[in-house]
Amino acid sequence: MKKIFSGIQPSGTLTIGNYLGAMKHFVDLQHDYECMFCIVDQHAITVPQDPDELRDHKRKLAALYMAVGLDVNKSTIFIQSEVPAHAQLAWMMQCVSYIGELERMTQFKDKSEGKNGVSAGLLTYPPLMAADILLYGTDIVPVGDDQRQHLELTRTLADRFNRQYADIFTLPETKILGRRIMSLQNPEKKMSKSDANTKGFISMLDDEKTITKKIKSAVTDSDQDVRFDVENKPAISNLLTIYSLLSTQEVSSIEKEYEGKGYGAFKSDLAELTVSVLTPIQKRFYELYESDEVDNVLDAGSDTANKQARTLLQKAEEAMGLHRT
Ligand code: TYM
Repeated sequence: MKKIFSGIQPSGTLTIGNYLGAMKHFVDLQHDYECMFCIVDQHAITVPQDPDELRDHKRKLAALYMAVGLDVNKSTIFIQSEVPAHAQLAWMMQCVSYIGELERMTQFKDKSEGKNGVSAGLLTYPPLMAADILLYGTDIVPVGDDQRQHLELTRTLADRFNRQYADIFTLPETKILGRRIMSLQNPEKKMSKSDANTKGFISMLDDEKTITKKIKSAVTDSDQDVRFDVENKPAISNLLTIYSLLSTQEVSSIEKEYEGKGYGAFKSDLAELTVSVLTPIQKRFYELYESDEVDNVLDAGSDTANKQARTLLQKAEEAMGLHRT
């Protein structure tokens, strides 16, 4: 069975962008692949995090992975920092990375622009991501479109290592899961859990009132046509994408349904649809969040991941000469 690896940062409560762009697809993939889903807390600390909040976000993310339907008998769910091999291999991957190629990453440029005291970890974020993936002999990495560049670099680093030292790493394929979900307040910007403007995103744990308010105050385009046209109507196209993914209805049939009805009716139905999808997930989430089940799953996950990671870590250390003969 082919191996899948993907990760999500516990840097805030997940948004529907994370859900529609990644998590929802993980649930389908687990039936046909051997899956590892990681809570990448070491990536999260590349920007400052409150320690208590970080702990809570990790627990929430684990409970959400389960609440959306990941079956722990099929998928391994674990926390990155509980598997030291990730940081160990990350150091080796840093040593085959060039500063120039790390500086060219758009995420690094976006997150460091105009800031003082940018952490070195933000620059070396991609080699850690490469380590996550390469440690498990991953065949396929399912991610949202915003991660494409990091995945290309992962392949470059794996190939470079294989040529310079020993041919041990599988070059993973990237599986882009769909269109990027944009901020409700600015359709030029991706919806992000770390956005300071909370009106820009819908959190997976937002209640009905908040969801309705955020969708109703989402920016729209100048006319009243519910029509998909990313170039000229980016805001409404984004809402149509969200509607389509939540309802599994084609965009063209949604456009037909709302012909001549204007934005008001469309937004109000979208709010209702969002609430109807999130409510059962939230119900399951709160049961899990308060139970011991989450800890048991994470303990088992870290055992499995630690066992699996050992083989490739050892091979990489041998290849680079990091062990005594
Ligand atoms: P992160 O935590 O930003 O996002 C997790 C997943 O959600 C997708 N995503 C989106 N998809 C559509 N629209 C959006 N607005 C949106 N926002 C986020 C992301 O593409 C991603 O699939 N670097 C990664 C975490 C990571 C990782 C890995 C992923 C670390 N190691 C190894 C895969 C394999 C990240 O920051 O994801």
